[in-house]
Amino acid sequence: MKYREPLDLTIDTLNEDGCGLSADGQFAVYGSLPGESVTAQPLTQKRKKVFLKTIAVKNPSSERVEPHCPAAASCGGCSYQHMKHSAQLEFKSGLLRKHLLPLEPLEWLPPVTGPTLGYRSKARLGVRYVEKKGRVLVGFREKQKSYITDISACPVLSGDNADLITPLQELVGALSVARSVPQIEVAAGDEETALIIRHLEPFDQHDLELLSSFSDRYGVQIFLQPGGIKTIRRVFPDTQDTYLEYSLPKFGLDFRFKPSDFTQVNLAVNRQMVARAVELLDLRPTDGVFDAFCGIGNFSLAIARSVSRVVGAEQSAESIDRARLNSSLNAVENVTFEVVDLQDDSPEIPGFTGLNKVLLDPPRSGAKALMKVLESPDVERVVYVSCNPETLARDAKMLVQQGFTLRSAGIIDMFPHTTHVESVALFCRQG
Ligand SMILES: C[S@@+](CC[C@H](N)C(=O)[O-])C[C@H]1O[C@@H](n2cnc3c(N)ncnc32)[C@H](O)[C@@H]1O
Repeated sequence: MKYREPLDLTIDTLNEDGCGLSADGQFAVYGSLPGESVTAQPLTQKRKKVFLKTIAVKNPSSERVEPHCPAAASCGGCSYQHMKHSAQLEFKSGLLRKHLLPLEPLEWLPPVTGPTLGYRSKARLGVRYVEKKGRVLVGFREKQKSYITDISACPVLSGDNADLITPLQELVGALSVARSVPQIEVAAGDEETALIIRHLEPFDQHDLELLSSFSDRYGVQIFLQPGGIKTIRRVFPDTQDTYLEYSLPKFGLDFRFKPSDFTQVNLAVNRQMVARAVELLDLRPTDGVFDAFCGIGNFSLAIARSVSRVVGAEQSAESIDRARLNSSLNAVENVTFEVVDLQDDSPEIPGFTGLNKVLLDPPRSGAKALMKVLESPDVERVVYVSCNPETLARDAKMLVQQGFTLRSAGIIDMFPHTTHVESVALFCRQG
């Protein structure tokens, strides 16, 4: 790397990766804001761009705040903790607007917001025994580095999990295979938490006793993952097959799930997001609704409360099992769930004929393959929940070419302080 010493830089704009950029775009500085003059330490250089982290700010922006987390400057988990939350929302709304151009919705929706700390119910934490420190670190990777950030707590993790970091470091440090645990996944429901501990060597009896007492002491379920995702199994408590749970009280729904199932990261925002999607679908008792990428039925069951029938489709057979379980536990009878690869060129969706409204909630790659399916003149209204404004914009253009109008759009603050931009857009057939 050409640059090793701290540099004095003036920041011109903020980019989608959480960096303030110099006017020539050559220097990308974490922890800086437009208009600021900063001193920054180079971290790495990639192609022609130098990545740095702010170490001093000469003229703080009016949008700057003190980060809640002492590791915010180096931890790769969050990128905008140094920015007022209102400014984060404005910035993300601006990104959505920019991506959608030249399309412009007829109405901008107010952001769906929730708590900005203690919100994160899912996290994949890196684990590493660090020889130099003589102890185990558990946390997110540092910005632009492969090191695990040295933290003792993580204020964005939900509930008591924020304070699990130090106990987890001590737990792994005490295991006979402390150097062979690369990752711990956290998955929480409204009440309970599960930890999936990935390990490359078998645990001995003493290790299992340590894991068992950790499970008792912190009230967490412990799953082990010795190999691929299919090897995940719960070890503690070892009494019965338990699930994690979350609820959507507005719809009188309780959902059960396994820690490896997809569930929305921010359960408080999820409750509002589902309500927003249901409102935008403008549901009528005669409606038939297709919930594409339905997961465990998060939107499907809420929608089913107000319509004649719902068809949910999703690629993961395990999620569809859970969706069926959840429909039966909640006594929702007007919904069917199918395992379908919706990225397939022309997906066959059993029961699709005659459905008049669609909810899309695809992965980052978007829903391009479904655009043909949505050409059906029966489809009057599409609500698109997106975790990637780029693919949303691409698909939005296709929907508009097919005769839909982009009626409204807005962001969903699913991941405060991170670069993640979640959004929702409503498309209606013209006329
Ligand atoms: C953003 S999640 C939405 C899940 C659900 N709507 C919810 O709110 O919990 C995207 C879902 O798409 C599913 N998925 C990914 N690729 C898929 C594909 N090719 N076909 C169908 N579903 C897919 C994932 O398993 C995941 O459940």
